Amino acid sequence: MTNGDDPVAPPDPPLDPPLSLDPLLDPSFPSHPSLRLDPPDPPAPPDPPDPLLDPLSPMAPSLRLNPLRGPAPGSSDRPTPALDPSTLAVHLGRPGAPGAPVNAAVELSATFRAGGDQTYGRDDNLTWVAFEAALGGLEGGTALAFGSGMAAIAAVLETVPVGGWVVVAGDAYNGTRRFLSDAAARGRLAVRSADVADTDATLAMCEEVSSAPNRRASGGMLWLESPTNPLLAIADLPALIDGGHRLGLTVAVDNTFASPLLQSPLQMGADVVVHSVTKLISGHSDVLLGAAVTRSPELLEQLRTRRSLHGAIPGPMETFLALRGLRTLAVRLERSQASAADLAERLMGRHGVGGVLYPGLADHPGHKLAARQMRGFGTMLAFEVTGGAEAAELVCQSVQLITPGTSLGGVESLIERRARWSGESHLPPALLRLSVGLEHPDDLWWDLDQAFARANVT
Ligand SMILES: Cc1ncc(COP(=O)(O)O)c(C=O)c1O
Repeated sequence: MTNGDDPVAPPDPPLDPPLSLDPLLDPSFPSHPSLRLDPPDPPAPPDPPDPLLDPLSPMAPSLRLNPLRGPAPGSSDRPTPALDPSTLAVHLGRPGAPGAPVNAAVELSATFRAGGDQTYGRDDNLTWVAFEAALGGLEGGTALAFGSGMAAIAAVLETVPVGGWVVVAGDAYNGTRRFLSDAAARGRLAVRSADVADTDATLAMCEEVSSAPNRRASGGMLWLESPTNPLLAIADLPALIDGGHRLGLTVAVDNTFASPLLQSPLQMGADVVVHSVTKLISGHSDVLLGAAVTRSPELLEQLRTRRSLHGAIPGPMETFLALRGLRTLAVRLERSQASAADLAERLMGRHGVGGVLYPGLADHPGHKLAARQMRGFGTMLAFEVTGGAEAAELVCQSVQLITPGTSLGGVESLIERRARWSGESHLPPALLRLSVGLEHPDDLWWDLDQAFARANVT
């Protein structure tokens, strides 16, 4: 209705002034009810970066204790303790400023107002930064979060120049081997498999491949996993890393099975560590995420570029959940690891069970080595069912508490016959892999025992 149609109608209010494109930046702009129009403060000098949130800060690996509390009485002679990794897992990567939330925020923004440090969501995200500070601090390097473990693995393997070669643990994660077979089939990389539990044979293979014509110039990588998935073989990491370096190789270690709390490959000299964060670090089977950690600024830059160019980025919510999982990693590990050791012992004495593979068992071929280079034997075990593949499948179908399914490292125990997957034909057909979760070990034993009975494994 217009004023001309209805003489008693009050006159229209004056039109709102036209919106400035950026009223927050225009101090002369009049008030608009829907926008906060405080004239901008003169630009404040940028806050110094919070070292806990700055993955490149030399302080990131250690924890900055509360600066507001000041020294304790008589504390001048009381040095700050070297904090246990379980403590660091709880505290690294938390915002530290007064009034800050105790948890890093989930930064849901695809882009950022120009002129600051952050530019676009494929390159920058503060939730990633918090997670990366925590994981990097625990591994002793600078971490980059990826959309999945495979995304991190692909980024690391892509740093090998075209025509270069990779010697890979023959029993490495099947996705890693598939990635490499695909790269080899397309002529991008030359790939050889090695039994990484045999240090001399692995290094001999590295030497043979690296001295082949034209190979040395193209660069190469030794890809290690320890314990391996799923045979739980133990590689002598210090010896292989050292030997690999002497041959001019970049050495990568998939540390997923151990987690940063049980094994520190960067501290043994590895160039880069990868994780399927999906597993133990996140710990609840509700997130897919990966990470690569390195001390080399050149490698870090290459990986950051790969992440951005491949768009292999994690979601902020997933990253938040992974960081939340990391906070409880130490206690989850403690429980699952104790149960895994207990179940391994009980399985050893069970009729119908052939070999049991668990590095914590005194007769495991890598037991002494694992005791030297790990801070615990982990949460994974594997065992053979003497009745063959069919009986092993029946066990998986008969468990009532344990979940039959792939993956590992969650609060719930998972069991599967790995040889059911294509690409796993090198594995014993009746081998079952068990990821031990947080259930009571007696209940897990009851479940396995009744599943064996149902499957007639007696
Ligand atoms: C040892 C290991 N590394 C890497 C991966 C791949 O991780 P994601 O599933 O997060 O891509 C897996 C997955 O099972 C794994 O077991």
